Amino acid sequence: HTLLVLNGPNLNMLGTREPATYGHETLADIAELCRRTGELLGLSIEFQQTNHEGQLIEWIHQARGRCAGIVINPAAWTHTSVAIRDALAAAELPVIEVHLSNVHKREAFRHHSYVSPVAVGVLCGFGSHGYRLAIEHFAHLLEG
Ligand code: DQA
Repeated sequence: HTLLVLNGPNLNMLGTREPATYGHETLADIAELCRRTGELLGLSIEFQQTNHEGQLIEWIHQARGRCAGIVINPAAWTHTSVAIRDALAAAELPVIEVHLSNVHKREAFRHHSYVSPVAVGVLCGFGSHGYRLAIEHFAHLLEG
C-alpha cells in the first residue's frame, strides 16, 4: 500500500519558523520519520509539500484509486479552504488530519477546520510524532 503525506504552506520553513510553536525539526526530518515508519510497517510513503493550493488539490485528485489513504497537514488552508475539503471528499480515501501544534490552544481562527469533517480523525499538539501516529493508524486500518 501507498500512503500520501501532504503538507501545506510554510511547512517548508520548519526548523527556523516559529520554533517555540513548531520545534526545531525540519520538514526533511519529518519526511525521514514518515519513510522510516512506513518501512517498518510495510507501507510506501509519498511525502509532498507545496505553497500552492492548486498543486495540493492536483495531488489529492491523483491519489484517488491509487493510494490507500492520505495524511494531511493542510497548515493555514485548514482554516480557509473549502476547495481542499471538497478535493479530499472527491478522492474517496480515508484521511487523517495532522497539526504539529495544538491549534485549540492558539488563536480562535485556528479552532475551526474545513478538513476535519471529511477526516477519519485529527491529531494535533504531538509535533512530528503526530505524523507517525497517523501512519501507524493507517497500518492498523489496512490490516482490517
Ligand atoms: C499547523 C497549524 C496551522 O494553524 C498553521 O497555519 C500552520 C501549521 C500545525 O501544524 O500546527 O501553518 O497546521
